[in-house]
Amino acid sequence: MRIRDPRIVAKLVEINVELKHGAALAGLTSLGIGGTTDLLRVRRHESLPDLLNLLDANHVPHKFLGGGSNLLVGDGELPWVVLQLVRPEPDVVLNGNLAHVDAAADLGRMITFCAKNDLGGMEGLIGVPGTVGGALRMNAGAYGMQIGSYVREVKLYRVANRKIEVLRGDQISFEYRHTSFAPDDMMLAVILELPSKPYKDILQGIRICNEKRRSSQPLGQKSAGCIFKNPPGVSAGRMIDELGLKGLSVGDARVSDRHANFFVNAGHASANDMLALIADVRERVQKCFGVNLENEVVVWNA
Ligand code: EPU
Repeated sequence: MRIRDPRIVAKLVEINVELKHGAALAGLTSLGIGGTTDLLRVRRHESLPDLLNLLDANHVPHKFLGGGSNLLVGDGELPWVVLQLVRPEPDVVLNGNLAHVDAAADLGRMITFCAKNDLGGMEGLIGVPGTVGGALRMNAGAYGMQIGSYVREVKLYRVANRKIEVLRGDQISFEYRHTSFAPDDMMLAVILELPSKPYKDILQGIRICNEKRRSSQPLGQKSAGCIFKNPPGVSAGRMIDELGLKGLSVGDARVSDRHANFFVNAGHASANDMLALIADVRERVQKCFGVNLENEVVVWNA
């Protein structure tokens, strides 16, 4: 979708939002898949109410992009524009055990920065790609820990009442890859309360998790992490592996040889290839195990 109306373009300049025409979302997602649309880069959180009012008043549909690491975007010209926060500098400010973090901060860099300042707890998440906002929205977790455990406060833009709000950690429920945020809530910033730990101990934990991840996940390849959520008590990856589906492909969309719940873009996979592969694997697992796998990856398909 393209914004051509000069009145809208002028208003965007006025509220300090950068407009990039015809951005290729394939370049903004870890799967390397996705069509084109206009990208609106938001430099100040405070611009959001004006921006959303402007888009709504002009009937411009929109979606909110984080780091693009858990996302499968449709092909071709997309029927909505995309909003993305510009990462401020600095994006993490420490105050004792509290880390004030912008939602656009890179998750791994934030964890490393805190570690260097003797704040730990999030070692397991070190290899998870994406932004802090994305991790927060879905309560990213790995190796027995989840980001939600450390949340003291979240600043978000509530589309429902068109306001920037601040929620305390105990007002939010964090479950397995799920939170009580509304689907259209936009994460803006978070305060994490992290336990004190010597850097060398945190580093040791990071090394162990990195090693486990390197040995079991296809890190160098284009993927969106795990495609399906694990049903209670079972591993989706193990079920797909037991069916002998590693290497199964539709076009260049392929079930990883390393971890069967990672589907990789082995070349020029389209969204339709990836969606067909997801549907095929889901059907086979349903048939053999009687389990309906739920997507973990977020799909933006028209
Ligand atoms: N397994 C297989 N074959 C495979 C993959 C796994 O047999 O192809 C077996 C493993 O050998 C192991 C068991 O299944 O015995 C569990 O595997 P793993 O430890 O890799 O954990 P997982 O349940 O597949 C989850 C998360 C990952 C997270 C790891 C480590 C989900 C859907 N996946 O994977 O998160 O990194 O544990 O904590 O919750 C993600 O969210 O995108 C993600 C990758």
